[in-house]
Amino acid sequence: MEPAINNKPLKQWTDEERVTAVKRIFNAISPRYDLLNRIMSGRQDIRWRRFAVSRLPGHAKTALDVATGTGDLAIDIATVGEIEVFGVDFVEQMMRFAVEKTETRKLSGRITYAAADALHLPFPDNTFDAATMAFGIRNMPDRLSALKEMARVVKSGGKVIVLEMTFPRNLRLRRFFTWYLNNVIPVLGGIISGNRSAYRYLPDSIQDFLHPDDLAALFQKAGLHSISEFPLTFGLTYLHEGYVS
Ligand SMILES: C[S@@+](CC[C@H](N)C(=O)[O-])C[C@H]1O[C@@H](n2cnc3c(N)ncnc32)[C@H](O)[C@@H]1O
Repeated sequence: MEPAINNKPLKQWTDEERVTAVKRIFNAISPRYDLLNRIMSGRQDIRWRRFAVSRLPGHAKTALDVATGTGDLAIDIATVGEIEVFGVDFVEQMMRFAVEKTETRKLSGRITYAAADALHLPFPDNTFDAATMAFGIRNMPDRLSALKEMARVVKSGGKVIVLEMTFPRNLRLRRFFTWYLNNVIPVLGGIISGNRSAYRYLPDSIQDFLHPDDLAALFQKAGLHSISEFPLTFGLTYLHEGYVS
């Protein structure tokens, strides 16, 4: 059965409504999440996560992947180097697939998953060499607190790295993307996941998300420095990174 999702425009949702909807959506679509990601992004999501891994600090021995979902970024990080990875998410159903995939790839010794809210990370200050988040921050109403929490658990000299889908600036691409988001994604997502309303939330959340420069400004507000932003695939996704003082 489809979870009931608010019928109001996303901008009118309260923070609580949004968090409740996000939990319901990811709980419901978890079995089809990876497949839909690959189809809808034309497999670009794989490249985007690999780019995030390439931006980890060279000295990184520990990394925290926040909003890890089905674990793709945590697995990519653990695959490329001798890095001990922790993945956290508040939807345990998503992480069940992360655990399965991690076992299949024989990476269980390197990745630990735990249920946790990004706004209250269960780790002491200065624990990790890097904290990453892929396609999670868009779903968090309090983005500044999420960034501050990531910065808190990263050691001085470490990095906070965030990947997120954005609305392209190029006008033609923007028109095409608006059409694709509003017409193709809900239908395709509905057919494959059986949950059309979840895939109506996705386009709305992308269209409602911050401009990349505004996200960079939030990085600064969160106390990060030497902030950089990288557009990926014509700016459909951005990687933002900043160092912890
Ligand atoms: C679009 S998925 C991204 C999953 C994964 N990082 C990836 O690259 O595919 C978003 C994830 O963010 C998680 N999430 C959203 N808000 C969260 C919060 N406040 N705390 C922890 N996880 C959260 C959701 O449960 C979901 O698994």
